[in-house]
Amino acid sequence: VALKAEYVRGYPELFRFRKDPTAYVGDLGRRSVDVWNFRAGWRNLFLVNNPELIQNVLVTHDWNFIKGRALRNSKPMLGEGLLTSEGELHRRQRRLAQPGFHSARLALYCNQIVNCTADLVEEWKRNEDETVSVSEEMMRLTLRIVGLTLFSADVTKEASRVGASLTEALRLFVRNNNPLVQMIPPLKRMNDRRARETRHGIEAVLLEIVEKHRRSPEQFNDMLSLLMSSHDEMGTSYMSNELLLDECLTIFLAGHETTANALSWAWYLLSNHPEAEAKLHAELAQVLGGRLPTFDDMPRLPYTTAVVRESLRLFPPAWVISREAVTPYRLEEIEVPAGANFILSPFATHRDPRFWPEPESFRPERWMENDPANESATRHRFAFFPFGAGTRVCIGEHFAMMEAVMAIAAIAQNFRLSLASGQKVELWPQMTLRSRHPMVFRVEPRNAG
Ligand code: HEM
Repeated sequence: VALKAEYVRGYPELFRFRKDPTAYVGDLGRRSVDVWNFRAGWRNLFLVNNPELIQNVLVTHDWNFIKGRALRNSKPMLGEGLLTSEGELHRRQRRLAQPGFHSARLALYCNQIVNCTADLVEEWKRNEDETVSVSEEMMRLTLRIVGLTLFSADVTKEASRVGASLTEALRLFVRNNNPLVQMIPPLKRMNDRRARETRHGIEAVLLEIVEKHRRSPEQFNDMLSLLMSSHDEMGTSYMSNELLLDECLTIFLAGHETTANALSWAWYLLSNHPEAEAKLHAELAQVLGGRLPTFDDMPRLPYTTAVVRESLRLFPPAWVISREAVTPYRLEEIEVPAGANFILSPFATHRDPRFWPEPESFRPERWMENDPANESATRHRFAFFPFGAGTRVCIGEHFAMMEAVMAIAAIAQNFRLSLASGQKVELWPQMTLRSRHPMVFRVEPRNAG
């Protein structure tokens, strides 16, 4: 079957794209465009919205691709951590970090995730206000979780400082990819300088954490201690201090903002879909009956899990994944020169009616085995890729799924969240898919039984 391809040229189209990128790529998905090519000046960009081709880029031919320019430009901030490194260095770092995410460890992390969420629930119970800025609270929660589970450090006290620095880091990341900043050297230098300053701010907190681990390594059993204890046969540490900091910063950044956004969007969708919310509450009452969830409950919470998946479908926090072709490449009949940029957009593909009946509807039942509305038998594996795929697949995928399911379960048992009246909700596609305004919800206690 020939690909449905669209070719657009010239800067006005680029402005149209940049003005509202999610509307633009969402439209390509809704119209089932397989390949969209944009050219203007030296820019040559291919958006790929076809599961076979997505699989080829991310998995089958992954050797032909490196990360896109956007991530490369963020090296002053992220250094050579897992998100940004390439080739042998990436393979080695990934091998070192991987054991930190094995399933036996996830069970340990699960307890901490539930405890952190339970603390948040207690705080909300004491809160006199009727409304809560849930998007900010989710950031605080996921930052605390990633700090405790992976670094044994409660960064809550530093949360505002670390959180603000991380937000600044993301802002700089976006600004850095503005073509003007890339073309005008003084602007670029200024941006890079800010990136380094911001990094220094976060480094101070990270160095403290690393020092604590160094002083009494036997006391810790977390991901950081795994990274720190790795050494070769000669006893030389695999990770220099510099790399260790790059890795910590990357994991802090990648490990909290995405999950926080996923949670905020899930609350938003639940508050707009009372029938789904009622099913969620019914599952929680039946399986947990008021007690806190545990790791063993994961398989017993299929509807809660389906709510998370369906939210990740409609509002994938990583709404674009970008790559650059190292050598010339073929997309079926389309020839792509070396150096061309690729974007794969879960946001687009997750709204393509070829793969999703009524793509705009929030329907957790799509994901429920044994439900007549289940669609997974007929769907291409690569029509859904909120965590990417292949060698660069999200290392925190299972961690994030568990975290989101546990957090929703523990909170929804105790509270019903409904969007505050007058609350505007607007997509704000930055490095991750945020909401433009803090998302404020009315939080009503409910009887968990
Ligand atoms: C809902 C939450 C999350 C989403 C949607 C998400 C999404 C993604 C995606 C799409 C990628 C691949 C990017 C690419 O191929 O260019 C990625 C990579 C990565 N993610 Fe996540 N992520 C989430 C949570 C987490 C968590 C909780 C952690 C850590 C605790 C984490 C750590 C990382 C790291 C280190 C990488 C780079 C992996 C590599 O290249 O080897 N992420 N994530």
